[in-house]
Amino acid sequence: MAQPLFSLDGQSLITPQSVSNNFPSPNQDNEPDLLRTAEAEFAIVVSIAMQRLAAGKNLFDAVRWLIGQLHDVRQKFGAAVWQRLIPIIQAHPSAEILQQCPFTRWSFEKPRGYSGDASLIDFIYGHPAVAEEVARSTPLGLDIFEYTINAPGPVAVRERRDILTRFVDETAARTGSDTEVLAVAAGHLREAEASKALAEGRLKRWVALDQDPESIDSISRQFHGTSVEPINGSVRALLARKHQIGTFDLIYAAGLYDYLTDKVAIRLTQICMEMLKPGGVFLFANFSDEMADDGYMESYMNWELLQRSEADMWRIANGSAPENTVEKTVWFGANRNIIYSTIRKLS
Ligand SMILES: C[S@@+](CC[C@H](N)C(=O)[O-])C[C@H]1O[C@@H](n2cnc3c(N)ncnc32)[C@H](O)[C@@H]1O
Repeated sequence: MAQPLFSLDGQSLITPQSVSNNFPSPNQDNEPDLLRTAEAEFAIVVSIAMQRLAAGKNLFDAVRWLIGQLHDVRQKFGAAVWQRLIPIIQAHPSAEILQQCPFTRWSFEKPRGYSGDASLIDFIYGHPAVAEEVARSTPLGLDIFEYTINAPGPVAVRERRDILTRFVDETAARTGSDTEVLAVAAGHLREAEASKALAEGRLKRWVALDQDPESIDSISRQFHGTSVEPINGSVRALLARKHQIGTFDLIYAAGLYDYLTDKVAIRLTQICMEMLKPGGVFLFANFSDEMADDGYMESYMNWELLQRSEADMWRIANGSAPENTVEKTVWFGANRNIIYSTIRKLS
């Protein structure tokens, strides 16, 4: 897996310029020819897709077809050609049409200055916080949105939120009233909305750490008076051990490792393992290399992610702690678009 070019610094960890060349280029020698062929294929695909959108029938299927075709083009031509095709797709008149979808538009425009902010994920969650933004869309934009948020990636993201809620509630059931949880890169902590353990006051604390002050403000307002403790902090500060936040029964990171190089991911995992109590669990999630929406996301949404295979996940998990001190698993979500690793620290 190739590594992205940006460095870790809390403020600019997630950048639109991150590279997605974590998939092979079949042939480097005839790149100009391949690019011309890829452009021609894209022209055919987009022309068919635009005709289907203009016809106004079965728009859900039309967008699904386009997303599938972009995935195929990305796979077929490989990283080098795909990287050069992205700006061509973004400059095509179809971009203005597809960016009428509020989710696609938000991702492309990046109002918070970086990719994958918590409000973007709120579109996937269908959260009321973005209802006004959705309501401002054109009818065509809403039709496109109907498919984009029900594509395999977003379906997997909603499952991920539910898995996090389940892990927190199961941890509370296992550890009793002293349960301490840490969410790294918490976003808006939407998984807390459905947590029974939180609602019933069975958590000692749920620390929610994020680099974005707007996300921290949102958590502070929504969960005021509960055991949720928002902290404006960064992965960088965690790695430098600047946050003295104690130890936890459960630590998790979702929507973060997709932007971290292996080196940083392994270091962060080691630090999180150190912050676990004996018997505690660390969970991290990553988009898998089987994800289906990558071509659409990287082009029309300008949202690049580092996809990881099972072997990539194991490499990080295996680097987390000495072998005989942990129990590790790697597993896929239901539609295999997101992959998880859980590491239990043995007592
Ligand atoms: C895709 S969102 C995921 C939010 C949430 N965990 C979820 O699953 O819905 C990514 C979050 O990571 C945060 N983030 C990115 N880089 C970070 C860093 N270096 N330190 C702390 N938070 C970071 C962003 O501010 C954003 O809220």
